Formats: sequence, C-alpha cells, structure tokens
Amino acid sequence: MDRILITNIRQLIQAGDHITLKRGEQMRNLDIIEDAFLYIEDSLIADYGKMETMPPHLCDAISKREDPHNDLKIIDAAGRMVFPSFCDSHTHLVYAGSREQEFVDKINGLSYQEIAARGGGILNSAQLLENTSEDELYRSAMERANEILATGTGAVEIKSGYGLTPENELKMLRVIKRIKENSPLTVKSTFLGAHAFPAKYAGNKEGYVEEIINTMIPMVAAEELAEYIDVFCEDGFFSVDDTDRILNAGLKYGLRAKVHANQMGISGGVQVGVKYDAISVDHLESVGEEEFAALKNSQTIATMLPGATFFLNMEYSPARKFVENNIPLALATNYNPGSCPSGSMQFQLALACIAMKLTPEEAINACTINGAYAMGIEENLGSISRGKIANIFITKEIPSYSFIPYAFTTPYIDTIILNGKLIN
Ligand code: NIG
Repeated sequence: MDRILITNIRQLIQAGDHITLKRGEQMRNLDIIEDAFLYIEDSLIADYGKMETMPPHLCDAISKREDPHNDLKIIDAAGRMVFPSFCDSHTHLVYAGSREQEFVDKINGLSYQEIAARGGGILNSAQLLENTSEDELYRSAMERANEILATGTGAVEIKSGYGLTPENELKMLRVIKRIKENSPLTVKSTFLGAHAFPAKYAGNKEGYVEEIINTMIPMVAAEELAEYIDVFCEDGFFSVDDTDRILNAGLKYGLRAKVHANQMGISGGVQVGVKYDAISVDHLESVGEEEFAALKNSQTIATMLPGATFFLNMEYSPARKFVENNIPLALATNYNPGSCPSGSMQFQLALACIAMKLTPEEAINACTINGAYAMGIEENLGSISRGKIANIFITKEIPSYSFIPYAFTTPYIDTIILNGKLIN
C-alpha cells in the first residue's frame, strides 16, 4: 500500500468533505485549513485536518520515520501550501502542427472568422491532422499532457474536432483514449465533429450534419470513445437548428451535451445547450439577459476561456454578471492551436483576476471544484475531501495563494501527487 503523509502545511486549500459546486457569494469562499496535515492512502485522500488533531497512528509513524519497516512516506511541507490539482474542463490538445502564420495574419489585420472563411483556422488544422499518423499525434499530444500536468493540472477534458471525417475523428478520439490509459491525468473525452464544415461539404452543409448524425455518432458510441458531445454553435459555423439535431442525436447514444456558445456573437448556443441539459456552455464572450435567464434555471455551468479572449484580442465574458446572477462558472484553458496555444491554468487565473475582475478566491474555485463539475467529476476531484482521488500539488514557498495569479509567469509548484503517487 502506498501511503503519503504531508505535514506542516501552512494552508490546505479547498479542504472539506462537503465541497460541491459553488455559485454567487459562495464563490468568494475558499475552504482553507491553516497549519494542516494531509494523509493519502493508495490513490485516495484518507484524512486531513489541523496538525494538532493528527491521529495517534500518524504521530506514531512520524516518530518511527527512521524505522526501515515504516513504509509511510513523510513530506514536511515546511510552511508551504497544498492545493487540489486544477481541473481543465475545455481543451483541444490533440492537434497536428501549429498555426503561427495565422497568428501573424491576425497581427496584420485579419479576423478569426476571415481566416476561417478562406480555408484557414480549424480547416488548416484538419489538413495537418489528415497528414499525421495516429502515433505521431499521440506523441505530440502526450507532450502537451505532460506539460499541463507539470503546471498543476490533474484532470483534463479533451475534444476531437480537427478530424472532420469519420476516419480522422476516430483517429483523434483513439489518441485521447490512449492518453487516458497512459497518463496519470484524469481524462474526459468529447466528440466535436461539429467544429467546422469540411471543404468537401462547402455547398452541402446539411450533408455534413447528416454524416455527423448518421455515421459519426454511432461509430463513436460503438467504440465508446467519448463521454460528451460538443457543437461550435456560431454564425458561420453550426446553426441553432444544426446544434439541436446533433445534440439530440448524441443524447440518444448517451453522449451528454457541451456547447461552444456565443464566442463571436449571440448565437442561441446557450439556450439550445440548456434545452439539452448540457453539462457546460463554454466561451460566452457575448451574453445578455436571455442567456442569464436560461442558465439560472439549469444544471448547466458557464465556462469561460479567457486565454482565447486574450489571444483573439476580444471583449472578455462579463464574469462578474454571472456571479451576480448566481450562475456558477468554471475557467478552462481551451488549449488549442488557433485561439489559445497554452495549457496554463495559472494564466487563466491571472486573466480572470486582471481582465474579468474575479477575486483570486473566485478564480481558484472556478479552476478546481467548478472545473470538476464542468467535466462531471466533482464527486471524485476538485477539492481535498476524504475519499476523493489524491490529485494535489505542494507549492513552492510563496507568500499567499493570490501570488499565483499575481506573479503570473513565476513557477509556483514544488511537488505533484496524482492518484496518490509522487510525480516529480
Ligand atoms: O474554442 N471556437 C472554436 N474552437 C476553438 C478554436 C479552434 C481553432 O481555432 O483551432 C475555440 O476557441
């Protein structure tokens, strides 16, 4: 049995046995235990609390630390902090090549939509992916998975959507499955065939929607390659009607909805997502009272991707209004080659605080327990709670948790434990 005891933790962040999705005023509260211990048995959090309440069997084990028969690994955190690992609920981290030429095109004045309309953007990535083997795709995606793991992420949702043919969508989803099997990250997989219309269907969009519904979804379900289904519901991409039909078809195969909604403008994506009880609607740069009203009476969480807003130099989602409306929100990186080539949750925390005026407490909640909710894993991850999976990191010596978004390029992690195992 693997056993790890962490002692002398200055602050144990997001610790409590009944921590669930937070919204509104609750988001201001980070559950913190000062001067704490954390005890991990096998892959799970077995106990935690204030140092002075540490149970005798653990105190005993500390006194026998030199005993060669004592299998307990003891880590003295020496006044540093312990966090639950971040849950990044929206990424496209399986992709081929890169798109820095489009980055330059944007500097020279083209918009994201203009680049897409001339066959760049998602279609550019689809072409690169078509020419890349599954093994090579897996190798590059695993590099990104290891990169995010080293910066504090313990769970990640990954989407397909650069395949856009049955064969290539399956190729992507099989790569996600391999990451799930071989990485210590907890991985959730989303089928996003409805990410863009492939060139072949330029004059026959209905034909592609039919292919998604009648060919792709059944194939994905037959191989059990995804938990979620997503649609890019946006002007120039998939309409509300397309989204409705695709989500409906996915639901019949047990795929719960997620929606890319209102990134470039009001698209109706929020309402159709709520109609299908989407687990999350993501982006939300453009929203109004109708979107708030739809979300208020739903189980759907609002997910913001400020890294993409930053990269595309757009207006940020009005995060404070979501908080005021008591609508829960999550933050995710959107790691992808077109709108956010970064998987850093630290950067999202910084943007959330600086550009969206969330407090550090609200932002940390959005990256931990609320991120876990947005990927359906809040029962097992997203907080330090007895019985949850032991995905945590110990910080370096930093003055406070607000230092992480404040010093937004400074490395802040000392030790990573995933599934109860030391990673570094
Ligand atoms: O979430 N908006 C759609 N999908 C991604 C971007 C994908 C790309 O440009 O490659 C996003 O921003």
